[in-house]
Amino acid sequence: QGPEAVSPTGTPTGAPLTARAQSGQYLTTAQGLRLGDTDHSLKAGPRGPVLLQDHHLREKITHFDHERIPERVVHARGAGAHGVFRSYGTAARISRAGFLAKDVETPVFVRFSTVLGSRGSADAVRDTRGFSTKFYTDEGTYDLVGNNIPVFFIQDGIKFPDLIHAGKPHPDREIPQAQSAHDTFWDFVSLHTEAQAHTMWNMSDRGIPRSLRTMEGFGVHTFRFVNAEGKTTLVKFHWKPKQGVHSLVWEEAQIINGMDPDFHRRDLADAIEAGAFPEWELGVQTFPDTEDQMFEGIDLLDPTKFVPEELAPVQPIGIMTLNANPTNYFAETEQVAFHPGHLVPGIDVTNDPLLQVRLFSYLDTQISRLGGPNFGQIPINRPQAPVNDMLRDGMHQQAVHGGAAPYHPNSLDGGCPFLAGQDMSAFIDVPEELAASIKERKNPASFSDHYSQARLFFRSLTPVEQDHVIQAYTFELGKCYEKAIRERQLLALANVDTDLCAAVAKGLGMPAPAATEDVADAEPSPALSQLGKTWPVA
Ligand code: HEM
Repeated sequence: QGPEAVSPTGTPTGAPLTARAQSGQYLTTAQGLRLGDTDHSLKAGPRGPVLLQDHHLREKITHFDHERIPERVVHARGAGAHGVFRSYGTAARISRAGFLAKDVETPVFVRFSTVLGSRGSADAVRDTRGFSTKFYTDEGTYDLVGNNIPVFFIQDGIKFPDLIHAGKPHPDREIPQAQSAHDTFWDFVSLHTEAQAHTMWNMSDRGIPRSLRTMEGFGVHTFRFVNAEGKTTLVKFHWKPKQGVHSLVWEEAQIINGMDPDFHRRDLADAIEAGAFPEWELGVQTFPDTEDQMFEGIDLLDPTKFVPEELAPVQPIGIMTLNANPTNYFAETEQVAFHPGHLVPGIDVTNDPLLQVRLFSYLDTQISRLGGPNFGQIPINRPQAPVNDMLRDGMHQQAVHGGAAPYHPNSLDGGCPFLAGQDMSAFIDVPEELAASIKERKNPASFSDHYSQARLFFRSLTPVEQDHVIQAYTFELGKCYEKAIRERQLLALANVDTDLCAAVAKGLGMPAPAATEDVADAEPSPALSQLGKTWPVA
């Protein structure tokens, strides 16, 4: 058992973010040499040339040359804040996670993001929003890496590169989908129809939140709680904003993006600075951990499906308050690294095939984004629990590890630090019987329904909200050059709701196709019959 990891200055991991930065009275080089002049390079005479021996000049310019790191491959634009999560204790019966016990306060860092835009893109675009929370618990860091929409575009992670390639800017002109040619996005979602439910949420007012403070958050996948007796319960996570759920209307969003592209990050920072700390209640929907992992006909492992709250109410388990802005955008918001596999005892993953691929993807991308395998030692990523791992060396290693030999089992270097499988404070994988022994690439039959949840969501909206959905589809599809893509997406809409399809088709000046799926049991859309409007292609 080696000694606790320490930084080069001897501070334990989890030390304050500003530990080494700007600590002296005088301007110095990176080596601590006091400087007399940082405004003039060293020259041969007043008119030059500049001398290569000017170490301070070379250090200053070289460091500047390397100031940028790659932006995230997705969710590149984000805004972060620090806060605290206080648990109610209501989940203690079903999860043994220490931070969910009654009245435990846990520091958190939250990063909100858009998905498709680059780091410098506008805030109020129509897009999904990321909602990631890092809980610095006593038992290790727990990350809840969610979105503001409860369903996802795809059922299997192998489709993620296809989805993102279809949605990101075109490679020839680097013009974002959000403002220009929409063909690739609508081509993909009309061919890959499991994306229809998520796309419907994007086209609704949820796609253009008024504020990051007025968004819901969802874990999307079904997770597994494990209690002190080892009993498991399936759960879906929900963040409910105390500020209410509010959206922009499209015209507002377009004006805001022109006038103030930083609208959302400014709003969040201003609110926190003014002491109007935003709050979200964390809740869970709970389901019995049955063999088929179905609930009321909904496959809980299908991330394109949500469970209506009427069928499984959201039960509050704690409250989060964001109460401090980051000190430094790069150090905190940019360098923070979330991972759905950062779990604590009492919370585990399920076999959702999208979640399973995410468990690989985040660590992999962060090794390249943050320059090697030691980004967990960056202050914002340091656990606030003691760390005693066997990871050694690597690029940007900060810790000065003691001890002779990081291997296990080990009789020389401190003995055996744990008794695997017997210590209930350790993370224990839930034993799970695997149903299929046949290697195959097929989806289960329960994943094949691609339209009913889009229909359910659309029909749950008020007339004004339905009106906005129709306008959004009409506007966005009106930007598609390829008629065949518009026709195929209209067919998908016909399979969701005949009246919705007819209204969008009318707006596009195209005939409405007949549904190929059975939508007969569908209730008529009262909102549409009331409104009966059409919208021109803008
Ligand atoms: C960020 C991959 C699905 C939420 C990322 C990043 C990658 C990634 C590579 C960049 C991470 C970084 O550079 O630190 C994937 C893959 C998915 C997937 C392969 C499907 C298999 C999802 C889903 C959600 C989600 C379903 C929501 C439940 C997020 C969020 C971020 C993110 C919120 C931004 C994290 C931050 O603020 O730093 N994803 N993702 N992703 N992903 Fe996913």
